[in-house]
Amino acid sequence: AEIIIVRDNIEAGNIAASILLKQITAVPDTVLGLATGSTPLSTYAALSRSLRHADLDLSCVRGFALDEYLGVPPQHPESYRSVISREVVEPMGLDPNRVFTPRGTGSNIEEAGNEYEEMITAAGGIDVQILGIGSNGHIAFNEPGSSLASRTRIKALTAQTRSDNARFFDSLDEVPTHCITQGLGTIQEARHLLLLAFGANKSRALAAAVEGPVSATIPGSIIQLHPHVTVIVDEEAAAELT
Ligand code: F6R
Repeated sequence: AEIIIVRDNIEAGNIAASILLKQITAVPDTVLGLATGSTPLSTYAALSRSLRHADLDLSCVRGFALDEYLGVPPQHPESYRSVISREVVEPMGLDPNRVFTPRGTGSNIEEAGNEYEEMITAAGGIDVQILGIGSNGHIAFNEPGSSLASRTRIKALTAQTRSDNARFFDSLDEVPTHCITQGLGTIQEARHLLLLAFGANKSRALAAAVEGPVSATIPGSIIQLHPHVTVIVDEEAAAELT
């Protein structure tokens, strides 16, 4: 992997945004893989800013979120559908009909994973997948122990992840217990992985993902099997790299 160590998340966001801008300029129907959470926000903000100044036709850009909470209606402000609308679709001016999140509600929910896989395949796959990493090494909601070959499916959230994400809800009780997430095998098929990590509480997971053994114990370690990975981290998150 190419590892870029920067001062802070603003600088990282600017670099990531320039990679994405270059991609969209070269390929107008680029398929973006979209992470949620705090990590990609500076990237989305920087990309929105540069898109406002660039004279680009964005009507063909497509996007697929990594994951969604199970049982949270799409119109709930903390559904990833809402988060992606607010942080990505609206500020960048993308076509909302071309940006997708896995379905977390509705009938035959056990089919939602396959439906999403089919949509990604029909779109021709993901060009650039933006990734954050959990303090326990998860990527998307593939918690430690997830199969390295896993596909989009329903998963239970760990107690750690639920408490990490409680800040987005009124109380821990309201944090969903399950999610639907792209699998590690799904993520591995994106053509370019762009992993971002900031802050001291990511340093252990980041070092394990980048330098440790490839193992389901640290789902982020699958990036070592991928031929095209860019890692952009601040100095705190990089602290345990050797
Ligand atoms: C988000 C996701 C998660 C986050 C990770 C880090 O779609 O799938 O893997 O990237 O939990 O979260 P933040 O960025 O909030 O520290």
